[in-house]
Amino acid sequence: GLAQEAGRVAAEFEYSDAQVNKAVKEFIRQMDEGLEKSGTTMSQIPTYVTAVPNGTEKGLYMAVDLGGTNFRVCSIDLHGNSTFSLTQSKVAIPRELMVAQTSKELFSFLAKQIATFLQTHHGEHYHATIRRRATIHSESGFEEREIFNLGFTFSFPVEQVGINKGKLIRWTKGFDIADAVGKDVCKLLQDEIDALHLPVRVAALVNDTVGTLMARSYTSPGKTGTLLGAIFGTGTNGAYVEKLDKVKKLNGAENSANVDRTTGEMIINTEWGSFDNELSVLPNTPYDNSLDKETPNPGIQMFEKRISGMFLGEILRLAIVDLIKERKTGLFSDDNSSSNDVHSTTCVAENSPLWQPWGLDTSFLSIAHGDNSNGFKVTRQTLDKDYGVHAASSEDAEAVKLIAAAIGKRAARLSAVAIAAVVIATDKLSAPKDIATADDTPVNEDEMVDIGVDGSLVEFYPGFEDYIREALQQIEGIGKHGEKRIRIGIAKDGSGVGAALIALVADKLAKQEQ
Ligand code: BG6
Ligand code: GLC
Repeated sequence: GLAQEAGRVAAEFEYSDAQVNKAVKEFIRQMDEGLEKSGTTMSQIPTYVTAVPNGTEKGLYMAVDLGGTNFRVCSIDLHGNSTFSLTQSKVAIPRELMVAQTSKELFSFLAKQIATFLQTHHGEHYHATIRRRATIHSESGFEEREIFNLGFTFSFPVEQVGINKGKLIRWTKGFDIADAVGKDVCKLLQDEIDALHLPVRVAALVNDTVGTLMARSYTSPGKTGTLLGAIFGTGTNGAYVEKLDKVKKLNGAENSANVDRTTGEMIINTEWGSFDNELSVLPNTPYDNSLDKETPNPGIQMFEKRISGMFLGEILRLAIVDLIKERKTGLFSDDNSSSNDVHSTTCVAENSPLWQPWGLDTSFLSIAHGDNSNGFKVTRQTLDKDYGVHAASSEDAEAVKLIAAAIGKRAARLSAVAIAAVVIATDKLSAPKDIATADDTPVNEDEMVDIGVDGSLVEFYPGFEDYIREALQQIEGIGKHGEKRIRIGIAKDGSGVGAALIALVADKLAKQEQ
């Protein structure tokens, strides 16, 4: 029957405690490998950011944020007391720009958004450009204070060679614009900003995970500081504070002389989306395989393809379509039809997005998983309204919920692998010997390990953090007591603030050099 078939599919997504533990060990091994040499699957990118903020930073900065789904332009007023105010505008990135012929199309679109934002919210700066054009031949130009320093959050793997310079290593999350690979993305943006004569200087280049880490440190500076900034959204990735002497590949690197060694630490962008591309410890189902083949980057970002929002909907869609096609399961069957054609024996409309690759949005998983309504009415309504499934039964909805939940739970358990590995590798839980660590020992504030997170999945998927915690408790080196010491806090829209904070640091450095 249907329930049984759905149970069988759901079971394919189980990821046991033993598998989780094995993956943590492999994750730590790949982290170490990435710190030693370049060209490893987990990139472990040095960011040249060597300190996290402490909340006293002040000033007005701009940030733009090219993340997964949205492009955001903001101005951030850092008040210097761990608070800030933020003005922002947000647009969905047009799909055609993600796969444009040339990177110029994308970056000129971004520059235009910046121009519109300045006009709307910072007229005084916008008019400065007009004046600048008038005085463009005069020596003085316009005064420096009229220039906005901008932090550019660019959420893709970039080999950073300086605070505002970095070459795109590869696109992820469905972006695919060949001519940008290998180019300095700050320059691509600055060129388009200059073409519009905007008073904006791209001062810093920041991954969203680094921004999240910075923002979390600014707003909740604890005694221990924040260890990790992680994104569980359209994509997934993490950046953490590492000891400089462990970043062995920096020795002898071209710009190792530029490294500020005063703190003895550096933020590392792991790019953990590509953890275990070879699938030595990651779970794998026929649906994962089919999905990978549909992407522009097969074999890459294999961890991300099992965790993040861009992909979970498609995994579920592939599983659902499989069940529909195996007609004996009866999923979404149309009892009134006697035809042999699959489209007319189901109650799924022929033009339903369910028949289209990428047609099922990950938000549907959240809806189905969280649906406790009578007869799964909410799920059935969504299927009807958004997916052209006009006569789903409550058994259908229950089957879909079961599989959706299994996919979501596996994603959360995999997320726990990454979090645990970073906590263990950085030795954050090793307590002095005199502190007892029985499961029920109360946790002191200064024993907490702080983690800042952002992204649609962790924000909206019901119970995502609970599943992460359930897995953390079963991980060797974390356990029930360790799990209690890990504090996970949302740093909502943090990367804008984080980018502003790095722009501030960059601005200070530039002034020192003058
Ligand atoms: C936003 C951040 O809040 O979250 C972005 O500002 C980040 O920098 C994004 O990329 C991640 O979430 P999602 O779900 O949009 O990928
Ligand atoms: C992808 C990108 C990475 C980013 C993450 C979250 O994994 O490669 O740079 O941090 O998505 O947005």
